[in-house]
Amino acid sequence: MTTATKSGLAPEIAQLFDEYVIPNYGRFPLTLERGEGSYVWDDQGTRYLDFFPGWGCNLLGHCPLPVVEAVQDQVAKLIHVPNTWHTEAQGRWAKLLSQRSFGGQAFFCNSGAEANEAAIKLARLHSPGGRYKIVTFTGGFHGRTFAAVTATAQPKYHEGIGPLLPGFNYAPFGDLEAVKQKIDDETAAILVEPIQGEGGIRLPPEGFLQGLRQLADENNLLLIFDEVQAGCGRTGKWFAYQHSGVEPDIMTLAKSLCGGVAGGAMLARKEIAPSLRPGMHAATFGGNPLAARAGIATIEMIEQQNLLERATELGEAFRNRFQPLQEELPYVAEIRICGLMIGIELSVEATAIVQQCLDRGLLVNCTQGNVVRLLPAMTLSDDELAAGCDILADVLRNFNS
Ligand SMILES: Cc1ncc(COP(=O)(O)O)c(C=O)c1O
Repeated sequence: MTTATKSGLAPEIAQLFDEYVIPNYGRFPLTLERGEGSYVWDDQGTRYLDFFPGWGCNLLGHCPLPVVEAVQDQVAKLIHVPNTWHTEAQGRWAKLLSQRSFGGQAFFCNSGAEANEAAIKLARLHSPGGRYKIVTFTGGFHGRTFAAVTATAQPKYHEGIGPLLPGFNYAPFGDLEAVKQKIDDETAAILVEPIQGEGGIRLPPEGFLQGLRQLADENNLLLIFDEVQAGCGRTGKWFAYQHSGVEPDIMTLAKSLCGGVAGGAMLARKEIAPSLRPGMHAATFGGNPLAARAGIATIEMIEQQNLLERATELGEAFRNRFQPLQEELPYVAEIRICGLMIGIELSVEATAIVQQCLDRGLLVNCTQGNVVRLLPAMTLSDDELAAGCDILADVLRNFNS
């Protein structure tokens, strides 16, 4: 049984944070200590069912055993070596990713923003005649470093940090005509999330990704898919673009890439990849032995346990639970689901739902103010799904904003 939260923040921990940690995050007054599968426990022993594990990083649940064992084995052998050397694990990891996507080559880094920085640099380096502009989309999210945040077409993330990087043009997500208007003879690439995550689990309209591919081909542009949130099996396929049949030239990955261990990657088609010439880009910790072993263990666990199929099945089970709520509750505007990317859009402000679920022992997220977002683990059991959905449905039914 999931226990309701009565826990608070211990005064000594509150004091440590107040005094020594920069307050750039809004944090819940809880201290998490331990996790297993879809559960986490706080320092009072209270258990929470986690429908948003690791902000999308823990797609295999908390502390998946194959990843734990791979890291434990590796950590005693070799923790880190710079990229001036080869490691077998980094090469094998690149091969596994390449074989499951579009046959490209990998550059490894540590986060989604870093992967996007690499993609943006590569696009500029590869484009003829110094083309530098990139078209991105409103509601998109690409990270917080300067190129990534400039690519993120949401004004709230730009306040007070200007001037931004030049050369980014924003089009409405789904509007091919607008994209066409944004392209000129200085444009190098189009950067898009095949499914917008932070933007509210927005699925691309029919034909949109195909249309982008066509525009990229006609104008000699690179098509970059940011799969930091949607990739690595979350949608029931290895990569979200595989639902559309459209292949990118460059793809960025992070979040669940290493089963919860920090890691990022950019994959680029073989003809394009060499434009990232020696000396032009680097990440000291990128593709380190711990991340590589965790990344390999993640792929192997997904395949050995048929977790892509399970993600699809779980997504449909969530749909069956939530679809009736849309008919029942006038303020449930839309349910958007692709595998384990789940958005419940309300016609009213929904942020209070996060606290109401937390009070009942369920962790969820709200994005864009009115979309309840779930990014559950592929290892969620049927009983856990039912227990969490019961709580969320109850909270939604009694929701009075
Ligand atoms: C689609 C997408 N791209 C990039 C990022 C940035 O990733 P990171 O926080 O690892 O830099 C995120 C993070 O939420 C994301 O969802």
